[in-house]
Amino acid sequence: MTGFSADWLALREEADHAARNEDIGFQVANSLSSHDCPLIVDLGSGTGSNLRALAPLLGLKQHWHLIDIDAGLLAHAKEQLREWADYAEVVHKSLVLYWGEQQITVDFSQADVCKDFGILFNKPPQLITSAAFFDLTSEQWISEFVQQLVQHSTPFYTVLTYDGDEQWHPSYPEDKAVLAAFHRHQGMDKGFGPAAGPKATTCLQQAFSLGGYEVMTAPSPWVLNAQEHPDLMLCLGQGIGEAAAHFAEAEAITSWQDALHYRRHAVIGHQDLFARPIIA
Ligand SMILES: C[S@@+](CC[C@H](N)C(=O)[O-])C[C@H]1O[C@@H](n2cnc3c(N)ncnc32)[C@H](O)[C@@H]1O
Repeated sequence: MTGFSADWLALREEADHAARNEDIGFQVANSLSSHDCPLIVDLGSGTGSNLRALAPLLGLKQHWHLIDIDAGLLAHAKEQLREWADYAEVVHKSLVLYWGEQQITVDFSQADVCKDFGILFNKPPQLITSAAFFDLTSEQWISEFVQQLVQHSTPFYTVLTYDGDEQWHPSYPEDKAVLAAFHRHQGMDKGFGPAAGPKATTCLQQAFSLGGYEVMTAPSPWVLNAQEHPDLMLCLGQGIGEAAAHFAEAEAITSWQDALHYRRHAVIGHQDLFARPIIA
């Protein structure tokens, strides 16, 4: 368990899909179009949201390998992917999904990717991807991870990495202190060493550029309002308050959390990144 519940991942899925940067998604889809059945490895897959967003952009046959440390979330992934598909069956231990004209074979592994890079390359993938994952990792781990991908010339696509930008409207006097405390919490160890938090995209960008990759980044913010996303705004704000409470006065947190009921809009910054080897 790493503390991400299936309920929280379900609550955010619609906003996540709406926020993904379309241009980068199309570049990724284009880059895979020459493969008959690309193998795509999804790190920290949770309940399979990244597959549900990306697979529809790709070709008729795909093979996915979903990796997560949390066996419970992988069990939810199997269920939710079956529900998402028009039809699903198990063939030689793989789950095969039929979605429109697409046939998507899915394998699942419970693994701690902090410790095990080998699992990424058991069979060389055409793409390694992840969603809402890299801010949990550390600068040191990112550097070692990128070296592995560069050695294997593997393209990489990650979406929805938190970038530290937050605007809550109307604003409240405690906003600055609570955000600063939340950012301190972002730097705490999430299993990979001191977390890169909002610096993760810059770390990835620099490491891939050093490795001779072409790197594209683009914003993918959540743009939330109280009419359409009341539960997500409340749940997100409560989570930020709980994290910030490690470093801020209890009174400031209580009054910030009380104010959540009066917020009309929130913009939460994320970045998407696609890195691919430059073909000489
Ligand atoms: C914020 S959730 C994102 C889940 C999913 N990608 C999505 O977009 O809904 C982060 C995920 O990373 C997984 N995770 C955290 N540390 C991990 C590790 N060391 N190895 C593998 N997965 C990990 C968690 O279990 C969780 O499913």
